[in-house]
Amino acid sequence: MAAPSDCPIVTIDGPSGSGKGTISRALAEQVGWHLLDSGALYRLVAFAGAGAGLAADDIVGHARLAAAMDVRFGADRQGRERVLLEGQEVGHEIRSETAGQGASRVAAWPEVRAVLLTRQRAFASPPGLVADGRDMGTVVFPQARLKIFLTATPDERARRRHKQLKDKGSDVSLAALSREIAERDRRDETRQVAPLKAASDACVIDSTDLGVGAVVRRVFELGAARGLWP
Ligand code: DC
Repeated sequence: MAAPSDCPIVTIDGPSGSGKGTISRALAEQVGWHLLDSGALYRLVAFAGAGAGLAADDIVGHARLAAAMDVRFGADRQGRERVLLEGQEVGHEIRSETAGQGASRVAAWPEVRAVLLTRQRAFASPPGLVADGRDMGTVVFPQARLKIFLTATPDERARRRHKQLKDKGSDVSLAALSREIAERDRRDETRQVAPLKAASDACVIDSTDLGVGAVVRRVFELGAARGLWP
């Protein structure tokens, strides 16, 4: 199923810790568009699989779960993200580094990616969609009107993830996190299907020395230059 071609889409891809989640959310809020956090879907498949007692290498079982799981995204009254899996709030659980590693593992399976492709395309609806992930511009929404590939040095990305996890009360060492991020990068970049890479028509933004506001402004300007918003 293709996304409706009249629905404008901005894709923001990049490696773990590049800031794409924060930038995508801020941009979607600013322009009043829908948001797709595709990484959350892969995290949910891994999380639901562990919860259902599936073996870590049960590809068919995980693909079935990916098709059947009831997922809802939203926000509470304070604007905090809510992720409901079968009606249960799991937003905190799926953000752990362990869930991220599990997501990266199931994301390498073509069977799981094929199921999630359809689910992801269903998020495209007017007035527009900001889609955050690894293959949004290359595979899921190749027709996107603006494609961003957000990067930052591995050290800076590890520092950001460390701060994010610490703020959420997780106690992870920076060195361990750097190793895990390097491992996740390697797996995401070398997998056979939809590996992490910039689309040939993507605008690459290195956010190592840029704050959130500066990156959002840059993306906003690029979208304005393409007539996506006033
Ligand atoms: O963006 P994130 O850290 O929440 O993503 C978790 C994992 O999911 C990531 O390591 C790779 C995988 N993923 C993917 O393969 N394709 C996407 N579009 C999004 C995430």
